[in-house]
Amino acid sequence: MQLSRRCRREWRTPTLVRVKILGFESSCDETGVALVEADPEGAPRLLAEALYSQVDMHAAYGGVVPELASRDHIRRVLPLTRAVLTQAACTLADVDLIAYTRGPGLAGALLVGAGVAVALAAALGKPALGIHHLEGHLLSPFLGDETPQFPFVALLVSGGHTQLMQVDDVGDYRLLGETIDDAAGEAFDKSAKLLGLGYPGGPALSRLAAQGNPAAYSLPRPLLHSGNLDFSFAGLKTAVMTQARKLGPAMSEQARADLAASTQAAIVDVLVAKSLRALKDSGTERLVVAGGVGANLRLREKLDAGAAKLGARVHYPPLALCTDNGAMIALAAALRWQRGLGRGTTDGAFDVRPRWPLAELAGASA
Ligand code: KG4
Ligand code: ZN
Repeated sequence: MQLSRRCRREWRTPTLVRVKILGFESSCDETGVALVEADPEGAPRLLAEALYSQVDMHAAYGGVVPELASRDHIRRVLPLTRAVLTQAACTLADVDLIAYTRGPGLAGALLVGAGVAVALAAALGKPALGIHHLEGHLLSPFLGDETPQFPFVALLVSGGHTQLMQVDDVGDYRLLGETIDDAAGEAFDKSAKLLGLGYPGGPALSRLAAQGNPAAYSLPRPLLHSGNLDFSFAGLKTAVMTQARKLGPAMSEQARADLAASTQAAIVDVLVAKSLRALKDSGTERLVVAGGVGANLRLREKLDAGAAKLGARVHYPPLALCTDNGAMIALAAALRWQRGLGRGTTDGAFDVRPRWPLAELAGASA
């Protein structure tokens, strides 16, 4: 295989211990591939990434159809891989380690990324490393301009998860609190559906909310004063449904926007209150926000303002890397490799973990 000019240069510097990690994400409805480069120390660098989102395909069904998701990952994954290598002016021969999302997520979708990653690794004689999807999310701010320092508190807010974690180092995670029913993203998506908005509902609901009054309807803030760091969003969805029914099918555009704004305010208030409480309780000065809901601008504004009052700082991944992507998977593998936690395996065997608590990772190495 021909080495590009850029890769040839590095190849000729034998003293430089530097790795290139190809990462695959396929846990749900986004196929993500990325190439990250890492030295033994310092922030890993994103060389190239490519993403294909299936949202248009699933929108017709009002949610993700797992079988369709798996089939589409198969269609996209190799063209995306080629695009990433071309963009980075590299070839597969330059890749030192292949990372893939091992879980949690949809079993069939995970198997596509894992199968391709492990097969490529076996063909290249390079190791393959399974990464926890949520670890990818919570480490993704390391791809931003100002990387956070350990320890920090992480608020993970995605379509399937709402968790507060104490993060003392890579792989050292302690669960502080989590949702006892729906995830925050699910609350956005389900409320959006009730308001007749498309899938995924989060971005659509927040766009509509920009035209509305967040104080127009008084919606519950579940578990706000529970005294712990757990969340609950199922009751909020019911309250939105009750309010939407009261307004009826002839609901005015303004009422719809007001209800969207009130829903967003309720979700954000709870997320902010619990995150600030976690910062106070742990005495930590840094909060990392990750997962799709982390793209929500009201959440960002309220968290920034609340943290500033505590003398704390909030770190976000670059906006484009808030939702699922391959870069965060390659990055998590790079940070694990730097700490000797991510050597990967070369025996071609693999499994996926559709349900996989993040706290199980503590101290685990592969
Ligand atoms: O992390 P992610 O891409 O996928 C999962 O691992 O679940 O998160 C997707 C979730 C969806 O529920 C989506 O509605 C929500 O993130 N989301 C948002 C926004 N952008 C994405 N929720 C609120 N405001 C947004 N701007
Ligand atoms: Zn995700």
